[in-house]
Amino acid sequence: MPLHTLSTTPIAGQKPGTSGLRKKVTLFAQPAYLENFVQAIFNAVPGLSGATLVLGGDGRYLNERAVQTILKMAAAHGVARVLVGRMGLLSTPAASHLIRRYGAAGAIILSASHNPGGPDGDFGIKFNTANGGPAPEALTDAIYAASQCLSEYRISDAPDLDLNLLGEQRLEAMRVTVLDPVADYAQLMQTLVDFDAIRAWIDAGHRLRLDALHAVGGPYAIRLFEDLLGAQMNSVRNAAPQPDFGGGHPDPNPAHCPELLAAMSGPGAPDFAAAFDGDADRNMILGRDCVLTPSDSLAILAANAELIPQFKGRLRGVARSMPTSRAVDVVAEALGFDCYETPTGWKFFGNLLDAGRIQLCGEESYGTGADHVREKDGVWAALAWLNLLAVRKQSVAEIVHAHWARFGRHFYSRHDYEGLSVQAGEAVMQRVRDQLPSLAGSTLAGLRVRSADDFAYTDPVDGSVSQGQGLRIVFESGERLVLRLSGTGTEGATLRVYLERYVADPALHGQDTQQALAMLIAAGDVLGGIRTLTGREAADVVT
Ligand code: G6P
Ligand code: ZN
Repeated sequence: MPLHTLSTTPIAGQKPGTSGLRKKVTLFAQPAYLENFVQAIFNAVPGLSGATLVLGGDGRYLNERAVQTILKMAAAHGVARVLVGRMGLLSTPAASHLIRRYGAAGAIILSASHNPGGPDGDFGIKFNTANGGPAPEALTDAIYAASQCLSEYRISDAPDLDLNLLGEQRLEAMRVTVLDPVADYAQLMQTLVDFDAIRAWIDAGHRLRLDALHAVGGPYAIRLFEDLLGAQMNSVRNAAPQPDFGGGHPDPNPAHCPELLAAMSGPGAPDFAAAFDGDADRNMILGRDCVLTPSDSLAILAANAELIPQFKGRLRGVARSMPTSRAVDVVAEALGFDCYETPTGWKFFGNLLDAGRIQLCGEESYGTGADHVREKDGVWAALAWLNLLAVRKQSVAEIVHAHWARFGRHFYSRHDYEGLSVQAGEAVMQRVRDQLPSLAGSTLAGLRVRSADDFAYTDPVDGSVSQGQGLRIVFESGERLVLRLSGTGTEGATLRVYLERYVADPALHGQDTQQALAMLIAAGDVLGGIRTLTGREAADVVT
């Protein structure tokens, strides 16, 4: 089949955000929108010709069509081999593993993560590098720059491949291997957590509920929890990936999973539950009558790392993103391992993981992961938690309460103001930024400020500096307030206000989170003038 070089012109705005290029499907469906961005990847990433590439996505609307297009463009760029998930499906952590397992030069992953899908939803595309992790900023900047000076793209006009057929096919001179998306990943999981202990715990009558939210986590969860660990059939709900995620919002947090929360309350509820997002890298963990914050989940995994084979005798360091609560810092301090604070975005963990400085990391945005891949990993997090339950022989709530009793509790909540105009979002940030130099020593809603700054990060491995990563205000009595604008939205601006308060006394650990944070919420409003500048009386989403 002939290869074509088609002329094109740059399309404005193809700038990758926190996690790749995410835009409305209606934009991606425009002529050459996807092709231009993929061409920019081939122009900006060195060494793809002659190399192996991993390809797949979360199954959302446009996924399969995009896979077919990218295969044809890869063939036109001399890629030697593409490993593609059956039906074009791959979870983000599974893609990360495949890169590492098969020595690929990188992956093109199609996902807008937890954003809704379908014809009116979002689509996304990102490039991961040879270490398995998201492209660093220098590379995404280069891809963007390439997208802004294109004059042509190259593509084969070979017919579509049959992506349902496992095994080898050819597209021009390129080998295409259609893989079972789950097999390699499932094998890896069995080397990390104690499957025998979990199996015995399930055999003893414990019940699980996993919610894949109609996204790509379904096939992974069925294989691992039902087939390999013996959980009852139907333990995995909403398991078939749908192009529109069943019309839902595939974001595993209390606001978007009311059904799961209801199923986990009361004496008849299962012992453990987890939900995963669109591309199965995020997770939410629940026990009976107990919803965990991701910050606590990270701290508890760190405190119990010795019980998980993956970490036994080798946990040297942990990391969290800046807005994530400092619960894990307290554990690291007490148990004597290093703790790093990075900007928001999984890519910042990559260097620390590659250098062996950390083995475990997490973010408040329902991301938890470790050094087995270079992405956060939702299914892995659920397995690691089951490992703890099985070995400690305690319920989720018992483990959480024992943790707080030992280390103290970090009450934590995030208030999101979604769909603001860009001006309103920036006005709040600017108002706080302007006050930063004079805040220390002043009092806000009865709380005295100890320090205030705009978070900047110097990567300890390569020395690169990232500025402007969020405004943080720490109070004398240990509370902390963080404000930043989301980097993953596709419309307007989303203001995130992160609230955290440390309470050592176990007698006070039973308070309601929003009540425990009430003074801090008021301080945030005074400081940011949020109600006045956004016209909103309250946050749209509280997690
Ligand atoms: C993606 C990244 C995460 C990051 C999150 C932040 O999910 O993979 O690493 O924490 O975005 O999103 P935000 O909307 O707060 O910028
Ligand atoms: Zn995701």
